[in-house]
Amino acid sequence: MRGTGDVQTLAGKGREVFGLCVNCHSMAAGDHRSGPSLRDVVGRRAGSAARFARYSPAMRNAGIVWSPENLDSFLRKPARFLPGNIMVFAGISSARERTDLIIYLTEAKPDERNAPGSSVLKRADLKQAGPETRITTITYCGDAYNVVTALGVAHRFWEFNLRFKTDGTSKGPPPGAPALIQSGSSGDRAYAVFAAPEEISAFVERVCPPAGERR
Ligand code: HEC
Repeated sequence: MRGTGDVQTLAGKGREVFGLCVNCHSMAAGDHRSGPSLRDVVGRRAGSAARFARYSPAMRNAGIVWSPENLDSFLRKPARFLPGNIMVFAGISSARERTDLIIYLTEAKPDERNAPGSSVLKRADLKQAGPETRITTITYCGDAYNVVTALGVAHRFWEFNLRFKTDGTSKGPPPGAPALIQSGSSGDRAYAVFAAPEEISAFVERVCPPAGERR
């Protein structure tokens, strides 16, 4: 048995293990990513996080309330514990790591900024995007997109390296002001993030040669 005085340090270890989850989960309330927010997950009915619309039927109809015990079984082998669930995660074989992680999920009310990996994975608030990020025009010519930011700087991408995304949450860009976010480290690929899907094709102009190269 572990005394309660240990909880902080154990939660600290659990926070490290939570690094396996941060690609898909946040501990901030209502911050759903590819998976639902895990804030207050212990004691919550499985498949019931408010405004998370992408649960599998298996999770929605699991008919369980998350407890330290069933979380331990689930996190050991998600696919075996709940066949048909869509969480792409093989499981954690170490009982010790699972225990620390579950203490973290139960006890910690962590500040998301302190979570491991979150400096990379924390989503920027695109409502606050600066002029170097705010896109003013996107033109398409040949096999390339030419993206001009509010600073007047043009960025050219091979069409396969510019990905279009939407973020309709409170952190997404304002309507009509998509944001350019670098992806990867090489600088030749990026995301253009829009407030809504309807904006995308309306925003992209088919112009040859690209603006700035016309004579
Ligand atoms: C690749 C993305 C991904 C990773 C990595 C991942 N999850 Fe998930 N998780 C999901 C998705 C998606 C769901 C919803 C599954 C479904 O509906 O079948 C989910 C569901 C859950 C649930 C059920 C939540 C609820 O509201 O009922 C828990 C608990 C959970 N994950 C914990 C974890 C923990 C802890 C880790 C890290 C050890 C982790 N997950 C890693 C994507 C992921």
